[in-house]
Parts: sequence; C-alpha cells; structure tokens
Amino acid sequence: MKPIPFNKPFIIGRELSLIADAVAQGHLSGDGAYTKLCHRWFEEKLGCHKALLTHSCTGALEMAAILCDIQPGDEVILPSYTFVSTANAFVLRGAVPVFVDIRPDTLNIDENLIEAAITPRTKVIVPVHYAGVPCEMNAIMDIARRHTLLVVEDAAQALLSTYQGRALGSIGHFGCLSFHETKNIISGEGGALLVNDARFAERAEVIREKGTNRSQFFRGEVDKYTWMDIGSSYLPSELVSAFLYAQLERAGEIIARRRSICSAYATQLAPLQQRLHIADFDEDSNGHLFYVLLDSLDTRSRLIAHLKSQGIHPVFHYVPLHSSPAGRRYGREGSGMQVTNDLSERLLRLPLFYEMSADDITRITAAIREFFID
Ligand SMILES: Cc1ncc(COP(=O)(O)O)c(C=O)c1O
Repeated sequence: MKPIPFNKPFIIGRELSLIADAVAQGHLSGDGAYTKLCHRWFEEKLGCHKALLTHSCTGALEMAAILCDIQPGDEVILPSYTFVSTANAFVLRGAVPVFVDIRPDTLNIDENLIEAAITPRTKVIVPVHYAGVPCEMNAIMDIARRHTLLVVEDAAQALLSTYQGRALGSIGHFGCLSFHETKNIISGEGGALLVNDARFAERAEVIREKGTNRSQFFRGEVDKYTWMDIGSSYLPSELVSAFLYAQLERAGEIIARRRSICSAYATQLAPLQQRLHIADFDEDSNGHLFYVLLDSLDTRSRLIAHLKSQGIHPVFHYVPLHSSPAGRRYGREGSGMQVTNDLSERLLRLPLFYEMSADDITRITAAIREFFID
C-alpha cells in the first residue's frame, strides 16, 4: 500500500525557473532582487512596517531577542508547549524563560495566566500561534502596554492567519515566520522577521548584516560600511528567496487547499466526536495543522501503531519545554502546567501536505474509524 507521509515538500509553480533567473542575474548572496520582492510582498500583504528575510524562524527569533535588548536575568513569558527555538533564542542572551500554561481550546498561551507570571525582571511576552490559530492578541497587547513589555509573536506556523482582520505576526512589536519545509509556504529552510514598530527597523537591518551598516551602504545612504553593533549572518541567499517568491505568488491557493483538507478531515471524523476530540475549525486560520485529541497516551500509542501498520504516518508534537532537561536548567514555571501536561500526551497530528489527494484523506479517516469502531 502506498505510504502516506506526515509531510511532503512540494513545488507549485515557478520555483526552479526563478532560481535559474537568480543565477542568470549573477547575484547569489543575500538581498538581491528576489529578496526585495519577498520583503515587499510581506509588507504589503501583512501590513508590517518592515519585513526582513532570515535563514530560519529560529534566526528571526534570535534577532528579536537582540532587538528587545535582553540582558542576563531578564525574564521572558512564553508557553511551554512550543518548539525549542521560542525559548532558546532568549536563553542565548541570558534570559530566563518563564513558562505559562495553555488554553485547552486553542493550545495557545492562556492569556488569563500571564499577569500573575510577571515580575520586575519580565521584559517580553512571546505568544505562539499554535497550528496557525490566533492567540488572544488584544488581551496580550493590553497586558504588555500596562506593564511596558515587548511582544514577539512566534508566528512560525501562522503565515496568512488573521486575528480580527489583522495578519498574525503584524500585531506585536515583532513577528517571526518560518518557511521550513514542514510549513504552509516553504523554501526548505527559511524565515522572516517582521518589524512592526518603526523604532527598531534600522537596528534590525544592522543585526541581520553581521552588525554592519551594509544595507545603508548599498542604498547609498553612507559612503562606507563598518561594524556598528552586535549581529550575525541572518540573511538567506537569493536562491532561497527566489524559491520562496515563487511560493508566495501562489500563497492564496496553497492556504485554500490546506484549509479544504482540514475541513474534509473534520467532516469525515465528525461521527467519531465521542471517541476523539477535534478542535473547532477556526475561520481565520491558515490550515497549518490538523490534530485530534485522544482520551489517553495509551490510546494515542495504539492509534499510531494501527495507522503505521497501514502505511499512514501521523506524529505527535512537542515535548513540553518545562519538563525538558534544558527547560529545567534554564527556565521556570510561571503557572501550573496541567493543561500542557495533559494535552501534550493526547495530541496527534494527521498527515497534511499540499499534494494530498481526496483518496489519501478518505483512507486515513477510514483507518481511524476502523480503529475505534470495527
Ligand atoms: C512555534 C515554532 N517556532 C519556531 C520554529 C522554528 O522554525 P525554523 O525551523 O524556521 O527555525 C518552529 C518550527 O517548527 C515552530 O513550530
């Protein structure tokens, strides 16, 4: 039986011809014509002040941590149910990650628990839009305003999702996107930092270019470039940007397809609502993930084995950071972790990729029905 992987990287349009064009233009390092086209696309489509492509979302988060001026001992509030980079980027600058529990309905940071985790050392809140579903940004921005904190949205999974009509990643002071091959829009590895507060734009360019003012030099604003600040090499090559731009040209189609796969899963699994929980379909989200919640870790393990025996490859998700070796060493809990501990053991993500067929979906849902009913 043909295996159904969890994810399959894809090419949708002009990726290879745009790479060939970048080669023909003779500019392969960063910040050539395709990088600029991508920057403009994000600024226009997402409404951010400045977009800067990076080599990964991890890189964008690291840049954000520098821009937030994190000093050793500063505290950063974030969910434990997230990817390591959300915490690592700040720990690299000496911060203490303070983990707050998630909401059972969205698996996003519980905004009602944030305020109790704030101390005089708190500097930043990092909401993670899990599965492309928006965090409660009004409440989070309000808390940040009242306590003079910065907000870095980890929107790795959330490109083209919205919150009350605004693009995710464009609401906090910074937004961080990922184009890793597991995301909706891909370039192999890739990311972007969205700078929404103009005060940080100039420094962001410098940090991204090894701490130099090379971007200003290329625009003819200074007559030589030099070392201005700390920084690193965060920009992608033109080959990556050309690939990414070809995907951005078809972004609407890609998101629509993923949303229709999610809605087919939801319809076909609805009769099993008593046996597994399906999150409500969020009209504003980008169809990044489709997950189900089983009644126990044991059921999840048995369902995974059953599906794998039929060549279907679902995967669970994060090991909560507060319980990981590095999370215990560098961070602390800023609330109880009941929801995180419970749901992380019961969540299962089903295969979801652009080229999935209707038959693939039917085969997967039939195998799940067979597990529970037959
Ligand atoms: C929530 C979250 N943040 C950050 C990242 C890191 O993204 P990248 O692989 O582009 O560095 C990921 C990757 O899966 C993620 O899911």
